[in-house]
Amino acid sequence: MKILLLGSGGREHALAWKISQSPKVEKLYVAPGNAGTAGMVCAGCTCTPQCVSENVAMKADDFDAIKAFVLEKSVNMVVVGPEDPLVKGVYDYFVADEQLKNIPVIGPSKQGAVLEGSKDFAKGFMQRHNIPTAAYQTFTSETLEEGKAFLKTLKAPYVLKADGLCAGKGVLILPTLEEAGKELEEMLGGMFGGASSRVVIEEFMSGIECSVFVLTDGKDYVILPEAKDYKRIGEHDTGLNTGGMGSVSPVPFADKEWMKKVEDRIIRPTVDGLSAENIVYKGFIFFGLINVDGEPKVIEYNVRMGDPETETVMLRIKSDLVDLLEGVATQTLSEKTIEFDDRSAVCVMLVSGGYPEAYEKGFPISGIENVEGSIVFHAGTALKDGNVVTAGGRVIAVSSYGKDKAEALQKSFQEAQKIQFEKKYFRSDIGADL
Ligand code: AMP
Ligand code: GLY
Repeated sequence: MKILLLGSGGREHALAWKISQSPKVEKLYVAPGNAGTAGMVCAGCTCTPQCVSENVAMKADDFDAIKAFVLEKSVNMVVVGPEDPLVKGVYDYFVADEQLKNIPVIGPSKQGAVLEGSKDFAKGFMQRHNIPTAAYQTFTSETLEEGKAFLKTLKAPYVLKADGLCAGKGVLILPTLEEAGKELEEMLGGMFGGASSRVVIEEFMSGIECSVFVLTDGKDYVILPEAKDYKRIGEHDTGLNTGGMGSVSPVPFADKEWMKKVEDRIIRPTVDGLSAENIVYKGFIFFGLINVDGEPKVIEYNVRMGDPETETVMLRIKSDLVDLLEGVATQTLSEKTIEFDDRSAVCVMLVSGGYPEAYEKGFPISGIENVEGSIVFHAGTALKDGNVVTAGGRVIAVSSYGKDKAEALQKSFQEAQKIQFEKKYFRSDIGADL
């Protein structure tokens, strides 16, 4: 089969790496992709000489261009990496089109994507289905004073969340009531444009976070390997939030007992709740969880895989991912099983100096060819005159296996030294807290 994967980050390179290993796949296209997603040989390619994966210069949310391409190349399945096309309704676009309706899109409907697109909706959904999460209330500029009064009922620190999508920047955690009141006023006044016209205020939860992923066909699900990501730019979780500086899988506290609680109290009620509310959902669900005194609680839902979690989760799936995706598309996931790789996997993200604030792009990257035994996933890279150059804040993920976490980390840190670009930075304490 021919697959079109939408997106351009490290997550998409990791998905492309795994998808291309499936004997079912003869050709993979990635739109728009990056310098790593082109040139991969697909296990099911029957061409002589063998052809390779191709990047397509098309935005992941340009639905008309995607339609023309899918029809021209007879693509059999579309896999969606980032949330943007999902929130904009790529699933519904295909279903509503006579020529596209039989081509499966792996991802939720527009209505399902609201689980990520609106924090208020997600909290309401969890409340309706008794899914453990922080107590909350939602406010608008008309109810600012009520919001300030609600803050007074909570203990510090105070958690304020813009309702809409803010590229990961819409959550503020404030140490004092005074700052929380001031920021609430600014958020409702348009700090994040329309995305913060509603603000969710919630109780602060203290614990270690863990990302859990499932693939669902709307009725059944398979649970993928869990991972922990490292969000802050600085060592020992200091400084600004980033998209993620590294990840580790498995997560030691996510043992059988804990995962059973997650499945019984969170995963099953979520999948059943979506179905009970007639929300069409055939894709990945990302549960952002926190372990509060041994009890899992939901911080947020995302409607896609995590980045950089995917750069370790894909390493730990032994089964054919495309076979599972077919199970999603045909609603036969109950007939599928998933096998994990027992080894540990870690990923260390190499980023541009200055990130997550202003940084320069276009620096040549050297040494990738010297990496041995680790897997290099491109994130923010591009090809310029035949050379790989930096093109984003998060540049390259160095992923490794190990018999345990320590061995995998040692490998990633060692291989990360071999890749060079100006102002390269990475966190050398990934996994140290687990
Ligand atoms: P979110 O975008 O909702 O995942 O929030 C971003 C980050 O803020 C999370 O990964 C947590 O580290 C932190 N966070 C969000 N909500 C809470 C909460 N209720 N208690 C503690 N930390 C939180
Ligand atoms: N690593 C967190 C995310 O992808 O949102």
